[in-house]
Amino acid sequence: MMKKMIPVLFVAFLVSCGGEKSENNNSKNDQENSKKSENVEVKVNNHSFSNIDEINTTHLHLDLEVNFDEKVIEGVVRHTMNNNGAKQAIFDFKQININKVTLGEKGSETETTYSTGKPDELLGKALVVDVDENTKYVNIYYSTTPESEALDWLSPELTGSGNHPFLYTQGQAILTRSWVPVQDTPENRITYSANLKVPSDLLALMSATNPTEKNESGEYTFEMKQPIPSYLLALAVGELEYADLGNNCGVYAEPHMIDKAASEFQDVPKMMTAAEDLYGDYLWETYDVIVLPYSFPFGGMENPRLTFATPTLIAGDRSLVSVIAHELAHSWSGNLVTNATWDDFWLNEGFTVYFENRIMEKLYGKDVANMLALIEYQELQESVSSMMEEGNNEDTHLKLELNHRNPDEGMTDIAYVKGSFFLKTLESKVGRERFDEFLKNYFEEHKFQTITTEDFVAYLNENLLEKDEIEFNVDEWIYNEGIPDNVVKIESARFADMKSMAKSIKNDGEKLPTDLERSKHITQEWLAFIRAFDGEVDAEKMKEIDAQLNFKDCGNAEIMSEWFILGIKNNYNELRPNIKEFLVKVGRRKFLRPIYQTLADADEDDMDFAKEVYEEARPNYHAVSFNTIDDILGVNQ
Ligand code: BES
Ligand code: ZN
Repeated sequence: MMKKMIPVLFVAFLVSCGGEKSENNNSKNDQENSKKSENVEVKVNNHSFSNIDEINTTHLHLDLEVNFDEKVIEGVVRHTMNNNGAKQAIFDFKQININKVTLGEKGSETETTYSTGKPDELLGKALVVDVDENTKYVNIYYSTTPESEALDWLSPELTGSGNHPFLYTQGQAILTRSWVPVQDTPENRITYSANLKVPSDLLALMSATNPTEKNESGEYTFEMKQPIPSYLLALAVGELEYADLGNNCGVYAEPHMIDKAASEFQDVPKMMTAAEDLYGDYLWETYDVIVLPYSFPFGGMENPRLTFATPTLIAGDRSLVSVIAHELAHSWSGNLVTNATWDDFWLNEGFTVYFENRIMEKLYGKDVANMLALIEYQELQESVSSMMEEGNNEDTHLKLELNHRNPDEGMTDIAYVKGSFFLKTLESKVGRERFDEFLKNYFEEHKFQTITTEDFVAYLNENLLEKDEIEFNVDEWIYNEGIPDNVVKIESARFADMKSMAKSIKNDGEKLPTDLERSKHITQEWLAFIRAFDGEVDAEKMKEIDAQLNFKDCGNAEIMSEWFILGIKNNYNELRPNIKEFLVKVGRRKFLRPIYQTLADADEDDMDFAKEVYEEARPNYHAVSFNTIDDILGVNQ
């Protein structure tokens, strides 16, 4: 075989049309000296402009200062590069001002010239830096802008104490480029280090080695020794405290929340033991969770060593900890073995949902794990139907085609639930023991690497199916639409009871048993109960149920959001103050999307209500959430 060919990169230098505003507002001279042209044409590969086959970052060092007054982060990112003879090094950036670019080690740097690419609304721009074949160090001096969409700057009113501001980043899928100029593709792995300066009353944390206490100077250093993809670079700055949970696990939260968080997450050390028993050693040393303010747009985000979590998990009864099992599982599926492109996203999430369910089974038993899986399966069936109805059949394939689309669009029940049911079905076919051995080897043999769907299929065939002469419809699962017929069937007697209770209330006018209390059933049983009304029930009956079980104000965001949706569909308008309070406070997109969508699909009055609430709520949301809701309500576009 010939040595891997270096693809010829098509970089056409078009004459700048001059229409675009200058990127630079700090050092005009630098810009004039070193910026050659704008709007150059650069090839895109898997949502990135970078030329990693020619030159790629191996280590990245950040020297940054976080400025809450201006809402900007400013400083330099120092790339150590593996150069295969490149004349240009190409990075991704978006909503960032580039101040200058230098080559060489700190202290002996020389300024170099660069061009910027044609702006793309989704991808941002290419930063094309002139280098020579010996260049090893590229330093980019930059500052973020208030528009940088990875960054959520919270004013003190939006935090627990109301006294200190807060900042956190969200990198996945392609947002890291809006706070650090990087080669922003999961195909490349980097180690990193950082020196940060933040206001001295705040603590800074990263997806790296972390302090557990503030220091007076506000200066912190970080190191991530294991190579990670760029979407896992992460930072949080706020008034934070740490609590040790044991077994190298801990939790960070704002002071008012730290005790509640430590109690809610007390089982995390057991989850760690369960996970290691299943698929091998945890390779990231420590595992902490940080509870962020309510605007955080996800349930959890698997930033290595430091899972970011929504405060809606703090329900008081440990009923939502499966999200932590999920993020912990990503320490293997996703962070250790990473999807090579966003079309392979199911390799991150499908494996993780499967793994999460195995952890939950070990800690809480088969019944609970089955109920979790069944609730997800209901959601999968609904998603598949609506994708098919809308003619988006191809989006039901595990292997996606997201070129020219936002990778966010791959974040559906297909990657998560169809992916996990594919693995569950495989497990039931080959037997748990053999399947676990296969998965353990898969993680071991691909650790700190990326993998495509095609490579996974080849690995599966070679190491499990062909070896043991097992027939399985792998291609149908991965490259075809819908849910294959051989999907493993799961049953739950507890669910059946909840469903029949709902049906008899709905159809036979029966009342709730008088001794029924919310705490007698787990979250998933209540979701099954609410869903069993199939969207239709008298508002009066909902009111009666609330009088006894108080769903509308129960503090469990999973139950509340499901209840609100049923209420909107049935004109249970007394819920409006509760819905409003929820939407103004919580920024988790998973809850916001269906509530706003249901309001938008109902009548004009509901749409007006949605818009009125949104006006107040939007400033409290992260860009990930408000971009989605803007689309649903057709506003701010
Ligand atoms: N990695 C995801 C979150 C994500 C995916 C962010 C794609 C940006 C782009 C995270 O692990 C996740 O899946 N979170 C879920 C948790 C749930 C499935 C238990 C969430 O936030 O709802
Ligand atoms: Zn996940």
